[in-house]
Amino acid sequence: MRITWKMSTSKIKLFTTAIMIISFYWFLSYILLEVWFGKVEEEEEDIIKVKVPIKMNVSLNYVVMHIDLKRTPLKLSYLETLLPMLKDNGVNSLLMEYEDMFPYEGKLVNLSAENCYKKLELKRFISTAIGSGFEIIPMVQTFGHMEYALKLSEFQHLRERPLNPDSICLRKPESMAFIRHLLEQVMDFHNAIRPLKHIHIGCDDLNHVNKCHNSSEKGCLEKTDIFLHHVKSLSDVIKSQYPDTIVLIWDDMLRGIKPDKLNYFDQSTNVQPVCWEYGVLPQISLANFFEYHEKFPHIWIASAFRGAEARTATFPELSSRYQNVFSWMNFILNHPKLKGVQKVYNFRGIILTGLSRHSHMDPPCELLPISIPSLLIHLIVIERFKSGVVIDGYNGFEEELLRNGRYVFINSKCVIDLERFDSSECKFDGQELYDLIKYFSRITLDLKEAFYDNERSLEYVEFYSQFDLINKNTLADNVNMLHKYLEEIGFFENKCASIMSKYYERDFVNEYINHKTLHLKKKIQRLLNIYKIYYNVSVWRRTPINNTYFVA
Ligand SMILES: *[C@@H]1O[C@H](CO)[C@@H](O)[C@H](O)[C@H]1NC(C)=O
Ligand SMILES: *[C@@H]1O[C@H](CO)[C@@H](O)[C@H](O)[C@H]1NC(C)=O
Ligand SMILES: *[C@@H]1O[C@H](CO)[C@@H](O)[C@H](O)[C@H]1NC(C)=O
Ligand SMILES: *[C@@H]1O[C@H](CO)[C@@H](O)[C@H](O)[C@H]1NC(C)=O
Ligand SMILES: *[C@@H]1O[C@H](CO)[C@@H](O)[C@H](O)[C@H]1NC(C)=O
Repeated sequence: MRITWKMSTSKIKLFTTAIMIISFYWFLSYILLEVWFGKVEEEEEDIIKVKVPIKMNVSLNYVVMHIDLKRTPLKLSYLETLLPMLKDNGVNSLLMEYEDMFPYEGKLVNLSAENCYKKLELKRFISTAIGSGFEIIPMVQTFGHMEYALKLSEFQHLRERPLNPDSICLRKPESMAFIRHLLEQVMDFHNAIRPLKHIHIGCDDLNHVNKCHNSSEKGCLEKTDIFLHHVKSLSDVIKSQYPDTIVLIWDDMLRGIKPDKLNYFDQSTNVQPVCWEYGVLPQISLANFFEYHEKFPHIWIASAFRGAEARTATFPELSSRYQNVFSWMNFILNHPKLKGVQKVYNFRGIILTGLSRHSHMDPPCELLPISIPSLLIHLIVIERFKSGVVIDGYNGFEEELLRNGRYVFINSKCVIDLERFDSSECKFDGQELYDLIKYFSRITLDLKEAFYDNERSLEYVEFYSQFDLINKNTLADNVNMLHKYLEEIGFFENKCASIMSKYYERDFVNEYINHKTLHLKKKIQRLLNIYKIYYNVSVWRRTPINNTYFVA
């Protein structure tokens, strides 16, 4: 027994020692792993936050403002007044997305909206802009986002999918003829004023490629092949007619493409990709970038100063717009070093995208006049990176902006606090509209609460009315309050119509105001009608003996 006991004691000792040793190794390897992975994580996090203790500038020859006119007739007189401000802040090109606002002719005449620009006034504006030193880059959608044409009955048969007017079916020979026609009209119009250096042919968001041919056909081209083939044929067409015009395309269809596929483009290509990323922290693939650098003579980038939030957003979200452009600048300054490449890569230009609608069929989003502060932020950041920032760490520029824990941008006319933008501290054309729409946003918020309360009170009204137990005073209060809101909405509508008419043609002003107020007015009216029904119910009856109505 004793021996057994002794033996088991030594076994226990052995066991304990073993456990201690194992634990020690565990602990050691844990520490090592922690250090190792911690480092890896740090390195990954640092992908954008590289320290470069030298003075460097980003090279961006083109700072391009996107002017999106789709179903949104901005007054050219307003755009003209913007030019000096844009120039002062570093914009040197305008990307004109005319869509249905261009005065097409002949077979394409129905593509133009009824309130499209007249040839003469457009020509005058373009000449003025060129005279003030701007380069004009027209944009013509040539693959996706062709709703403005394919919605029409005469072009319906060119749809990739019968129910989707966004993408054109390239298998139909007629489609290519149609696109050539479209390009010709827009390019000839501009070339008559000044030969175009660049044309943007869109080609983004292609969701419905390769769907239009009949299902019994198999082994057809892949989506990327169709895309590349299309871009190649269009760029060849453009090259043959306008040999000096560079063709810009959005890059999203090139992302993640097999490198050898990019051999579609040789060094003499007239195509240059525009890498767009509108997120707070752009998800930029380094691999893609190095491929592009290899294949294309120049790369462009695009951030967004409006139209990158929700589909029906009212104001650009200033802090996310700032982060979007700041990350981009930081990325192009530092990305070659991430791969240990010493060469400094140039980027041709940056497009500041500003959508008026997410697509032709969508409701309007952030208006241009109230997005000027966001545009200014982009221009200040770009200017700082172009004129050389001392990059002693990631936050060099940011620290300069940071006041009381918030980012504040200051130029001679404007102070922009990202978190609490106060329009009274910033002089910009559009300020009055900004304030008015801000006021309306508050009404909308109040109304949301009121609707909630009213809907609850309606339940009571409906419930108590069966016992004729309605408190007419409460009812009257609610009715008065709703009438007051209707008045305020009416005030907003009138004022908004008068201010907006400085910037937009009447049809768009009406659309925008209705888009903002119609559903609210309908809701209020519905509530008022319900109240009206109960208003005449007689007052207070005796409480029923069994009180059932309290047990709702
Ligand atoms: C334009 O639309 C009108 C009305 O639908 C039609 O009568 C006309 O033929 C169309 N024009 C062309 C050039 O297709
Ligand atoms: C579909 O394609 C096949 C093979 O090309 C052809 O024989 C057939 O007629 C086509 N069907 C339709 C509806 O176009
Ligand atoms: C950066 O830009 C500034 C101002 O334009 C200029 O003085 C400086 O020489 C530039 N630095 C480099 C490295 O190009
Ligand atoms: C409520 O009563 C008034 C006066 O008796 C009457 O004029 C009105 O039409 C009634 N309204 C409804 C909705 O029944
Ligand atoms: C309570 O009283 C009401 C009205 O007198 C009557 O209709 C209902 O049936 C009664 N309920 C019960 C549970 O007694």
